[in-house]
Amino acid sequence: MTRHFVPPFPDRGPGPVPVWRGFVGERARTLVYGWSERAFREPHLIRNVLGYRVHIPLEPESVQRVLLDNAANYEKPKLVKRLLAPVIGSGLLSSDGGLWREQRRIVAASFTPPAVDALVPVFVDVAERAASGWTQGTRDVAREATAATMRIISDALFSGDERLTSDEAMAHIAAALAGVSEARLQVLLNLPMIPVSVRGYRGRRGQIYLRRTLTELVRERLAGGAPDDFVTRMIHALRERFPADEAIELAVDNAATFYLAGHETTANAVTWALYLLSEQPELQDKAARQAIEALSSGVDAALPERLPLLRMIVEESLRLYPSAPRFDREAVAPDCLGGHDVRPGDLVSVWPWLLHRHRQLWDDPDTFDHTRFAPEARKGRHRFQYIPFGGGPRMCVGARFAMAEGLTILAVWLARHRFSPLPGHRVQLSGAVTLRPAGGMPLALSRRE
Ligand code: HEM
Repeated sequence: MTRHFVPPFPDRGPGPVPVWRGFVGERARTLVYGWSERAFREPHLIRNVLGYRVHIPLEPESVQRVLLDNAANYEKPKLVKRLLAPVIGSGLLSSDGGLWREQRRIVAASFTPPAVDALVPVFVDVAERAASGWTQGTRDVAREATAATMRIISDALFSGDERLTSDEAMAHIAAALAGVSEARLQVLLNLPMIPVSVRGYRGRRGQIYLRRTLTELVRERLAGGAPDDFVTRMIHALRERFPADEAIELAVDNAATFYLAGHETTANAVTWALYLLSEQPELQDKAARQAIEALSSGVDAALPERLPLLRMIVEESLRLYPSAPRFDREAVAPDCLGGHDVRPGDLVSVWPWLLHRHRQLWDDPDTFDHTRFAPEARKGRHRFQYIPFGGGPRMCVGARFAMAEGLTILAVWLARHRFSPLPGHRVQLSGAVTLRPAGGMPLALSRRE
């Protein structure tokens, strides 16, 4: 029955896991591996990682202090900025203070509710085109979801520029992302970021491709005659506040930021939701019926609102498999979290993966139950115990975009096809930055009559 489905998660031992395990084997490649049961019960963890003191607050009140009440004291860590600099420079995701505020104000205009709602037809169009050639048989829905969300970001924000969606571009971009996680240990040890492996080398080439292509694109927009889209509006707004060279650099940083932050995260959310539904055929049929009805009233801005069941399913899916399972901060001044002293320079790691499955916060936390997100069931829940999109002033600027996009893709795909698990396929988790299924997500497809 639906209520008792416990989808897979990595093994948990009883005791604390040694820090060195984070740098070798599976734990190095998959950030949700290697947690002990204890991490899902304790209110606060403190670890020492290569000389850094790392706090992991697991009480919603402490998380709220970091992300909202005392947010100014918690900046993006210098380590993270160094790791991300070759790809996204000082864009919105990796800047702080005045520079962050200025950029957030500029891009926020493109993510207001009316701006996002106007994109629903783009979401439907891409989802329909993706599914139009599908026949009965096995399909890697992770790959399909990534291709669709990449196309959507390119269509919605970059006027569908082919340089960002060709097979070559997709391969370079996937390599660029993989290269970021490869350099993690070098950054922690304060070593120069020279590629030392094939994956690192490919990552560097991917990063160079992405930056070069986006620089061309931004310069063309500045020269005039370009479509009035996200990039054009951004470069002109930046140009009003910054000298030309700096404005171009920041526009490229943000184009890369949105291109990368804006597609794989949603693709993972769609993939995990499809997997969870494939294991629960009755619930899938119910969601498909709602999708068929919602689509039959036409493609309009209110389409996502007509999918309340699917929304609950996606919310539960993001609880169990948060696309961003962790994100970090660095303390600027002393503070106190849950009775623990925080010193300047301490790292604070916020872990949706742990909070969303914490024994003190949820009943049966590892069990799938979408009714947790029914309106009446939400009452009394602390808003910082469920944070797939973060929280406070730095909450995901694309949250509404992602939800509308994910719901629309799922509705179109579920209305046309039935998704079933592939016999013999074992679902495993992967990802050092986002949470993906290892080796993709092959599912069996059949057409819905
Ligand atoms: C299911 C999909 C998504 C998830 C789970 C997700 C999750 C997150 C999280 C947790 C943060 C906060 C990180 C932190 O506080 O350090 C964040 C920030 C951000 N996200 Fe998303 N995101 C998603 C989709 C998107 C999309 C579609 C876009 C753009 C179109 C986007 C763009 C960004 C940007 C630019 C930031 C940085 C905001 C800032 O620092 O002011 N995200 N996202």
